[in-house]
Amino acid sequence: MALLDWNTSLSVDVSAMDEEHKKLIGLVNDLNEAMKQGKTKDEMDRVFNELARYTQSHFASEERYLEKIGYPGAAQQKKEHAELMTQVAAFKAEYDAGKAMISVKLMGFLRDWVRNHIQKTDKQYGVWAQQNAKV
Ligand SMILES: [Fe+2]
Repeated sequence: MALLDWNTSLSVDVSAMDEEHKKLIGLVNDLNEAMKQGKTKDEMDRVFNELARYTQSHFASEERYLEKIGYPGAAQQKKEHAELMTQVAAFKAEYDAGKAMISVKLMGFLRDWVRNHIQKTDKQYGVWAQQNAKV
């Protein structure tokens, strides 16, 4: 069973961003599967690196989109992305140094983080984009 399934409750009504969110959720699920199946450190490293890299590229792409449509909350969104990346980078540094492990607790944190970020923050730009028809 997947840790988190994309469904319409996670749609921001912007298809390009929905597609990126699906990919992000897929990578969170891949990492969870790798952990559950007790994959090798190399494999865990590969999946975790991909997740960290994709998170950064999704944030950059989302920020470009928000700037393009002139979303008034773009600066706030950028700030929130930077805070989340700091958290991920801090954990990743501990993980890379062998001081932290991918755990059920971390996966729960990642799942809640992705879900809350999409539902509480990202959905607001979707609503704004619909109302302002600048998509
Ligand atoms: Fe997003």
